[in-house]
Amino acid sequence: MPFLKQFSVLFLGATGYVGGTLLVELVKAYPQARLTVLLRSSTHDETIKALDAERIEIVHASLPDDRAVIVQCASQADVVFNCTDADNIQLVQALLEGMRKPGSSSKPVLIHTSGTQLVMDDAEGNFKEDSKAFSDMVEDDILRIPSTAPHRDVDDLIFEADKKGDISACIIAPSLIWGFGSGPVKKNSMIFQFFVRLAKAFRRGFVIGEGTALAGTVHVQDVVSLHLLVLARALAGDDLDVSSYAKFYFASTRDATFREILTSLASFFHSKAHPGFESAALQSVPFEETVKVHPYAYLVARSRYVKAERGRTIGWTPKYVEERMTDEENMFPLLEAALAQVELEE
Ligand SMILES: NC(=O)c1ccc[n+]([C@@H]2O[C@H](COP(=O)([O-])OP(=O)(O)OC[C@H]3O[C@@H](n4cnc5c(N)ncnc54)[C@H](OP(=O)(O)O)[C@@H]3O)[C@@H](O)[C@H]2O)c1
Repeated sequence: MPFLKQFSVLFLGATGYVGGTLLVELVKAYPQARLTVLLRSSTHDETIKALDAERIEIVHASLPDDRAVIVQCASQADVVFNCTDADNIQLVQALLEGMRKPGSSSKPVLIHTSGTQLVMDDAEGNFKEDSKAFSDMVEDDILRIPSTAPHRDVDDLIFEADKKGDISACIIAPSLIWGFGSGPVKKNSMIFQFFVRLAKAFRRGFVIGEGTALAGTVHVQDVVSLHLLVLARALAGDDLDVSSYAKFYFASTRDATFREILTSLASFFHSKAHPGFESAALQSVPFEETVKVHPYAYLVARSRYVKAERGRTIGWTPKYVEERMTDEENMFPLLEAALAQVELEE
């Protein structure tokens, strides 16, 4: 859709951490865009509408009951942002059904947020020397991600729709996202609540094996800037004829080992004098033991080894490349907010 002056957006995930932060920037960057925000409940209507009451229309719909509403909204949009749940295949099926317009001269654009769990290996705490680094510049790397990987069923559906030419689809897969968001509702990343729950379950500093398995990290504002850059390209009509796998972007700027992450987590709980954290020292626990303490502990044992290179080729210049998520000044405030939330929910 080259050089669209006015365009319509269907936005999903506005109450979330990534989606909310993105929506705020989208409203600022595109005063000509008309925005339909799809929400599952009316709790945050006023807060979201307040971002730009004249241009934001709110529609309430959730699956399975309101599928027809979602299909209808998608059919009316030039651009759909899906920042909801990278594993919700029914939602993406409904969006694609609405967006498909056989015979139409313009292709609607889908910008979908996935995640680097796509390429999680089977490490059990220690970095595997043969662990593959997945580059988004190597189409074959992206093509060969197994269909059984987390998020992949949804991403495959999107690739297929793009290949058929029904839509133009871009997928952005962030690594662990940090930094306070600036969205209207959720300001903190879900991963910090997960870290807090892990610490509470283990009741001491722990690491799985040597803790050398690694994950990428990225600041939320850098994730947002990549989404906006991808939108700008789509609106300019760039990438219309490129392979579907050449519109897949990792968003990641700095790798961290799980030992680094879990060290910061233990120091935080020690600083709070939390029961069990008389010391901030980490105890190495065998993989099989950890998953008995918390069913998702494997998530801090397995590498997601990615090279986020394609974004750089289109002009992505992330700002938070030097800062480390695991530094106390970055991680402690996010853990503090997450702890308050977890304790509220307990
Ligand atoms: N945070 C990270 O570190 C991270 C890293 C990599 C990838 N990601 C991916 O990025 C995406 C957004 O993550 P996030 O951290 O922003 O999550 P989040 O804060 O939990 O926000 C999720 C948003 O999606 C909405 N939503 C969830 N399921 C929905 C459904 N079935 N229909 C309509 N709306 C739905 C939620 O609305 P309600 O208000 O109705 O619940 C909320 O607005 C996810 O796919 C996630 O896997 C996140």
